Amino acid sequence: MFDVRSTENLEDFQRAFLAIGQYFGAEPTSERLEKFSQSLPFERMHAARENGAIVGGAGVFPFELSIPGAVVRCAGVTVVGVYPTHRRRGVLRAMMRAQLDDIHARGESIAALWASEETIYGRFGYGMASYAGEISLAREHSEFARPLEPRGRLRMLEPSEALELLPPLWERAFPQTPGMFRRERPWWENRVVHDPPERRDGGGPKRFALLELDGEPQAYAIYRHNPKWDEGSSAAQLGVIETIGATPRGTAEIWRFLLDIDWQATISAELLPIDHPLFFLLAKPRRMKYRMSDGIWVRLVDVGAALSARSYAHDSEVVFEVADTFAPWNEGRWKLAGGSCERTEDEADLRCDVTALGSVYLGGFTFAELQRGLRVEELREGAIDRADSIFRRTGVAPWCPEIF
Ligand SMILES: CC(C)(COP(=O)(O)OP(=O)(O)OC[C@H]1O[C@@H](n2cnc3c(N)ncnc32)[C@H](O)[C@@H]1OP(=O)(O)O)[C@@H](O)C(=O)NCCC(=O)NCCS
Repeated sequence: MFDVRSTENLEDFQRAFLAIGQYFGAEPTSERLEKFSQSLPFERMHAARENGAIVGGAGVFPFELSIPGAVVRCAGVTVVGVYPTHRRRGVLRAMMRAQLDDIHARGESIAALWASEETIYGRFGYGMASYAGEISLAREHSEFARPLEPRGRLRMLEPSEALELLPPLWERAFPQTPGMFRRERPWWENRVVHDPPERRDGGGPKRFALLELDGEPQAYAIYRHNPKWDEGSSAAQLGVIETIGATPRGTAEIWRFLLDIDWQATISAELLPIDHPLFFLLAKPRRMKYRMSDGIWVRLVDVGAALSARSYAHDSEVVFEVADTFAPWNEGRWKLAGGSCERTEDEADLRCDVTALGSVYLGGFTFAELQRGLRVEELREGAIDRADSIFRRTGVAPWCPEIF
């Protein structure tokens, strides 16, 4: 019914982008979209057409995503939208079909996204794969549990310096953190450092602070002041946009710096991982009112290739019976053994649909949790425990610090 194909020129790209633009109030100018297409090339934007007119768009950033023990190619699904004139007529479904087939043909074994609503993407095989949380901490409750004598040297960076000095820190953190993706230069320029006044929500410009310790950069923070007055006293909010530390010490010191900035009443941050060090650094972690939500969602596009790509705690075997109506090539039994996953005729230990495998993929959830949520069925006694010991998380919880 709807013809869905990749875009080939800026005009179609713009119309396809305007589908999501309808909901974000964005006015995608040619200049802005040309920049955007440096990260999302025309051929990765699918447009749905009815009688030749574009009525929906769905894009993919060709990412490299960090997963346990490796970095893999990943389709970063983004800017999905359907014109309000064409909602609930199957446009999204048609775009998801064309997009997934394209991702599969390109050999990207996983796809990931941030969902605007949790109800949309499960039917297409995406499983919630990480948590993200936001905090709001009153400055008077920001003391640390243990004294921290800062050793590092802090300095503010101009945007042009940030462009040079921040990426190496991200590059150090990214392979150690499942859920982070590699940022190419245009991403840094057009998204991280770029700061048009109309996107500041009444706040000040982005500030970039760098912490150097033991002779090298060890952490950075990007934040914004949102000044406000309440009966003559400051009710300002310091909005932390992103903080990356390459070492625990660096992370602690950059947070101490942020928490100590004068003239703020509260500090707020979004998209923090569930295992953020502030829970242990702060004397009163309860006061940061951590509010948890879903983070990125992952879909195994090719079950065998995806499960073979990550690392595991040990080499034991587990056999899955996988249901995947939207990507039938994944249906059936798969044996994970020695870190490699292949089709098998062996009896299955666990039965689940592909969304469950997406949920455990980055280490954000366990099979035991999924079983309790009625998402996985144990067919052989002890299989849940065995699968969890194989998939056991080492190191940090998955974390994607940016909505894409
Ligand atoms: C979400 C959106 C893309 C759906 O597009 P659509 O063309 O109306 O969806 P479809 O008609 O193809 O629906 C496909 C299925 O998803 C369901 N669905 C669609 N949107 C849904 C929503 N917001 N919540 C719950 N279910 C939804 C439909 O009921 C249908 O279910 P079925 O498979 O059981 O029949 C569209 O509403 C939109 O553009 N929303 C605003 C922007 C947005 O949220 N984009 C997602 C960014 S991550």
